[in-house]
Amino acid sequence: MSAQNLLPANAKLVRLEESTTISPFESGDKDLNDFLLNDAKNYLKSLLAVTYLLKIDEETVAYFSLSNDNLTRSDDKKQTWNKINRSIPNEKRRRTYPAVKIGRLAVAKKYAGVGLGSRIILAVREMYVNEPQRAGCRFITVDAYRDALPFYQKNEFNFLTEQDINDDTRTMYFDLKTI
Ligand SMILES: CC(C)(COP(=O)(O)OP(=O)(O)OC[C@H]1O[C@@H](n2cnc3c(N)ncnc32)[C@H](O)[C@@H]1OP(=O)(O)O)[C@@H](O)C(=O)NCCC(=O)NCCS
Repeated sequence: MSAQNLLPANAKLVRLEESTTISPFESGDKDLNDFLLNDAKNYLKSLLAVTYLLKIDEETVAYFSLSNDNLTRSDDKKQTWNKINRSIPNEKRRRTYPAVKIGRLAVAKKYAGVGLGSRIILAVREMYVNEPQRAGCRFITVDAYRDALPFYQKNEFNFLTEQDINDDTRTMYFDLKTI
């Protein structure tokens, strides 16, 4: 199975390149719209994030960007860390584990709520579990907007710490080994 196969049959996943023409995109979140139009290529050039477009015909219906990340043990996440470590053999337990961060994820307003966001999460899991790996990666992480917390919970992400409970964004993670 490839990530593409998990997406609607008429949708195509396209890696953003410097030469890609970006069509107008309206997600209802100005920062996310602006990132795609003005910053995504700079992040690519600076090797800071790779952006993927979900296209139906020539229309961009969603996009997301990925960057390498890690989960590192700290005092505020003792409980989570114990839970994480229970699924890692003793001799492989570390203070830090490799991860990939969903830096941005947005679905165009007119396509919201029909399951595209969840399909994208499945596709990202597929990319890091069943497609050939260039580097080890155990977790997906995201700094989720408050409004999007139910979306990530529905997609089986967990909170990393209670420390950010009152913040605008909360760090969440998904263990790729649970698939
Ligand atoms: C959050 C977002 C990516 C979800 O994508 P989507 O394609 O609309 O989500 P799905 O249709 O796959 O929704 C899956 C579930 O999450 C829930 N959900 C989705 N967006 C939600 C929101 N904003 N608030 C509460 N619940 C939400 C839905 O209730 C749905 O559950 P259901 O299937 O039982 O109805 C999209 O709404 C979006 O782009 N929002 C604006 C930008 C944003 O917040 N991005 C996240 C940055 S961290």
